[in-house]
Amino acid sequence: QTVAFAASGGLDSCTVTKWLSEHGVNVVAFTADIAQPDETDFSEIERRMRLSGASDYIAIPLHDMIAESGIEVIQFQARYEGDYWNTTGIGRHVIVAGMIPEMAKRGIKVLGHGATGRGNDQVRFQLCTNMLDPTVSIYAPWRDEAFLSRFRGRTEMIDYCETHKLPIKASRSAPYSTDANLLGLTHEAGQLEHLNVGPWFVTPGMGVKPEQAPDKVEEVTVKFENGRPVAINGKAVSAFQAIQTANDIGGRNAVGICSHLVENRFVGIKSRGVYESPGMELLGTAFKYLLQLVLDRRSRELYDAISPFVSKQIYQGYGFDLATHMAREAIKPVLKLVNGTIALKLYKGGVTFAAANDVPNQMYSESNASMEDIGEFNHADSEGFLRVLQVSARALAANGQVTP
Ligand code: ARG
Ligand code: SIN
Repeated sequence: QTVAFAASGGLDSCTVTKWLSEHGVNVVAFTADIAQPDETDFSEIERRMRLSGASDYIAIPLHDMIAESGIEVIQFQARYEGDYWNTTGIGRHVIVAGMIPEMAKRGIKVLGHGATGRGNDQVRFQLCTNMLDPTVSIYAPWRDEAFLSRFRGRTEMIDYCETHKLPIKASRSAPYSTDANLLGLTHEAGQLEHLNVGPWFVTPGMGVKPEQAPDKVEEVTVKFENGRPVAINGKAVSAFQAIQTANDIGGRNAVGICSHLVENRFVGIKSRGVYESPGMELLGTAFKYLLQLVLDRRSRELYDAISPFVSKQIYQGYGFDLATHMAREAIKPVLKLVNGTIALKLYKGGVTFAAANDVPNQMYSESNASMEDIGEFNHADSEGFLRVLQVSARALAANGQVTP
């Protein structure tokens, strides 16, 4: 039996790989290179995985896929429960999409992962795998009675790795656990489970805390074409470079760092997370301002129904299904209109609007909005409009339907 194990190279990966190998399972370790800021040395991960018993090691280059997925999250403004940029959720989709074809090449039919039995990640691995290749099944050690009866937690895993002289870098008292990719870091568990431990207990991995940020406003411009960021501060960027550059600029100004919340997991429990996604916050905010210049009231309403829907889809692992595809098609006409340059001011964690330029499709018209200029809008025309509205308002009053 061969298992393709999604390995980050951490304590879980080493323990599971070793334990499975000891039980006669052939483990092939796969690491998705999704530009995780906390891990750049894939040869070191390979060394650890091979020493743990992996028969082969494959690092899958997925920079473009994670960047494109991040751009799509921005285009949908897909923040789970209005806040979290879904960086881990979309990351799981990318990992599975990267692994499935590599597994097919090697004829491997079982995908293994280290997500627990009480979280969202297990659902995402499951659904993405089932959708992208229904013939592949899942193995999750944290739902396997045999594994669970051997390892009750970190301490036993560390003891086990030490006994087997596995080169783990985990400490016995990790204060929290972090998932990472180009789009952001998510920190959960450990000390963060206590709500009286504030979000700044986390040491930012993609930037600084607000009080460490410069005492000076930094201005940044983002140019969009067809809903995609194409230049930052006048310099042309690919999708990957856009997010990377925005991570640097946002990170050093403490933007998008430690937006935290207690969220509703798919499995029905609330959990507490502390999140960093400086580039997503910066680009996403610029996109948001441009979008609002372009959308009229009705297209705004439809977009606002689609956005939280897709956010939930990604969070729950349904990013490859028909509904998400329908949503993707639905916003295509919007994206064509999202052109122009937004300037933002960044200051100690805050991102605010500075200016909009060259927005050919904007609905905003200075002359129509102006108090000075009449433009195409004659104030006197409102007389009749308001008399029409008056009829139904007075009807409410006449029929006891007004609550002062
Ligand atoms: N709660 C977030 C989510 O569901 C973050 C999950 C973090 N996962 C992790 N393995 N650290 O997307
Ligand atoms: C886990 O439980 O494996 C991480 C958190 C989550 O999946 O929600």
